Amino acid sequence: MAASEGPEGTIPADQAREAAVEAALAALDLDAKAALLAGQDMWTLPALPEIGLASLVMSDGPIGVRGVRWSADDPSIALPSPTALAATWDPELARRAGVLLAQEARRKGVHVLLAPTVNLHRSPLGGRHFEAYSEDPYLTGRIGAGYVTGVQEGGVGTTVKHFVANDAETDRFTVNNLVSERALRELYLAPFEHIVENAHPWGIMTAYNTVNGTTMTEHHHLVNEVLRGEWGFDGYNVSDWMAARSTKAAIEGGLDVAMPGPTTVYGEALARAVRDGEVQESAVDTAVRNVLRLAARVGILDGAEPVVTDLPDTVDGAELAREIARRAFVLVRNQGALPLKSGTVALIGAAARDARVLGGGSATVFPDRVVSPLDGLTAALPEGTLTYALGADPNTELAVADKGFSLTAVCRDPAGDVIGTASAPNGHIQWMGSDLPEGVTHDRLHTVELTGTFTPRESGAHTFGIKGLGAFKLVVDGTTYYDDVQRTDSDDPFITFFGAPEPRARVELTAGEPVDVSLTYVVVLPEDIPMKVIAFTLAHQDPQRDPDELIAEAVEAARAADTAVVVVATTERVESEGYDRRDLTLPGRQDELVRAVAAANPNTVVIVNSGSPVELPWREDVAAVLLGWFPGQEGGAALADVLTGAHEPGGRLPTTWGTLADAPVTRVTPRDGELPYDEGVFIGYTAWEKEGRTPAYPFGHGLGYTDWTYESVEVRGATARVRLRNSGARPGREVVQVYLAPAEADAERPARRLAGFAAAEAGPGESTEVTVEIPRRAFEIWDEKTSSWAYVKGSYEIQVGRSIGDRRVTARINV
Ligand code: BGC
Repeated sequence: MAASEGPEGTIPADQAREAAVEAALAALDLDAKAALLAGQDMWTLPALPEIGLASLVMSDGPIGVRGVRWSADDPSIALPSPTALAATWDPELARRAGVLLAQEARRKGVHVLLAPTVNLHRSPLGGRHFEAYSEDPYLTGRIGAGYVTGVQEGGVGTTVKHFVANDAETDRFTVNNLVSERALRELYLAPFEHIVENAHPWGIMTAYNTVNGTTMTEHHHLVNEVLRGEWGFDGYNVSDWMAARSTKAAIEGGLDVAMPGPTTVYGEALARAVRDGEVQESAVDTAVRNVLRLAARVGILDGAEPVVTDLPDTVDGAELAREIARRAFVLVRNQGALPLKSGTVALIGAAARDARVLGGGSATVFPDRVVSPLDGLTAALPEGTLTYALGADPNTELAVADKGFSLTAVCRDPAGDVIGTASAPNGHIQWMGSDLPEGVTHDRLHTVELTGTFTPRESGAHTFGIKGLGAFKLVVDGTTYYDDVQRTDSDDPFITFFGAPEPRARVELTAGEPVDVSLTYVVVLPEDIPMKVIAFTLAHQDPQRDPDELIAEAVEAARAADTAVVVVATTERVESEGYDRRDLTLPGRQDELVRAVAAANPNTVVIVNSGSPVELPWREDVAAVLLGWFPGQEGGAALADVLTGAHEPGGRLPTTWGTLADAPVTRVTPRDGELPYDEGVFIGYTAWEKEGRTPAYPFGHGLGYTDWTYESVEVRGATARVRLRNSGARPGREVVQVYLAPAEADAERPARRLAGFAAAEAGPGESTEVTVEIPRRAFEIWDEKTSSWAYVKGSYEIQVGRSIGDRRVTARINV
């Protein structure tokens, strides 16, 4: 565990590490120092054997540890999405998730996790909403601090990202977010500040975007003055991937590491800038010191003892993934339909069979198994009581070729000779930097052919397609369907990653009869790119059935069963890194499906498989609605746990769910490069309240399987003691939420904000007490005139309850 003080007669571990860092720094020349600050490839920094420094390895999170390869044959645990983790309202569970992730990181030789994401849900349209925690800065900070603590207890570093105001995706490389000092302090910086103060992260990632005219990788004020100066952050600061834009401004703006490599604004360019007198060598030393401190902490610098020498006990990853998922599910409506009574169940929905367990983009990991709702319920329900119908397919596009495909990647040189092969667990190839199949080098590689067989599970017209840029040849069952060049007009360097697959072949196939498939990519990589990435996808879509027929089949199944369970979902094209959402509707004909099923069976339960809010226009017409998020690899098993009543769903909304028409903050598209955060400090529930609008489900809302009566709240000093009783028939767990309402809220100050929370557990009929400490910060506002926090004296109401919309007991205090 962390040792800041040594036993008597020894020097404290922190000081010993600092001494090792200084000694290592003193032994390096300018070129070595500059080289250390630049990625040597996509994920690592160079080793410096002369000082006993091994190569530092970073990897994306936040729900798993992908490792240095983008491949399904390098699997990782996949936990529920960050929105789900936040829905547990349980920093201790977040800590346990972190401990598991550190275990995964160590297994894969990763020293630093590029997580957590603590940007805010400013608008429900944000494409990476699923990857952040909440609209509330306090809840975000508490969950983030738990996560960071857990990962670092496992001896692995964290990189809290994206500093700061990276709350949407549109034009993310160039957007200039105009944010008032007050909104920055009270909202967007607040989670970072809380985490730095309470969990001491070893790293931070500066964002792509600009804030108030300065790009974040060069933001001297926010990085050097606020993060390091005021808050005392002593970790490393790494650029988001390709976010470092200039040598001098970046090093002077406090950026320590420019990623990825090998071509960056640091390395040789930085050494030259020092020699030319443009940059002070002391600025380079400061950055190197930060990197060496990180290396020392994670145990890859000889002579420095790592922070953690006594590793935590091994965690069962699948068990924990399942526990987090059921603790995250939010039951927003229940007219007595759940838990399921005995009887037959008609399970309906494409995502019930092909579950969507995680969000898209750099947060992608490849779990070695996925338990779908169909798998989970099949295992949990008595034989013969479950039927399945597709109902409606939300996937209007092709997806990565996966089920039924058996593929190998064959690499050839310009003469057509095979120089290497690699297994391809699915149709997506992504080789970055030197991560190439054995024996293959970029110099010799001319073509990559994905080749093998496809055995359809359904008869009919199958569509095959290609995602990626460049020259491709697609052959299915001996016929060449495409032999041409795919192009784009986007300037996002990750477009091959986020773009849509192009349909290129429609082929009539018979279920169970294998055919040969082959997709060849001609490798042409420009000379001047910072990293060499070979990325393309063979995509596929099953035969599309008549949508009316699919709905009619589902209705029949629902009518014949005691309960209908419909799983509705978003798709990769709706929620992902790289773009924002245009609306909050469920794709395809899913709303129509739910209405038709509910009309046929009054006992209809809807499971919503999405990482962020969607509109549920039929919500009053169904018997129950359970928000299942992107539930991670064990989602289906956890779903069975809560549907059968073996466990209650434990989640509470970390973000308001409502319609786009009512949502107070919807602008995510810059105009002339600028995105003004005109709403000031009002986002999420504070904005809904200010506008006087009622959402579908308020912040904090979530039902369990028992009832709670709030009896009293007593406040002494800054401590609230809340007495409540489990007035239902089952044991349960309640998230007690404390909101602080100033008597004098005004145009500039929200009517109330979350000031604390705690969990209560009690058996039926039992009463229990929880205490919640209200932090001083809850009484403060950022005073722009004095550029400091101002403690606002006066009268406040402490309001305690089940959500922002369901406050049960209050107390008045004067401070
Ligand atoms: C994302 C980061 C991620 C990095 C490396 C970027 O595009 O914004 O969150 O850590 O890529 O994959």
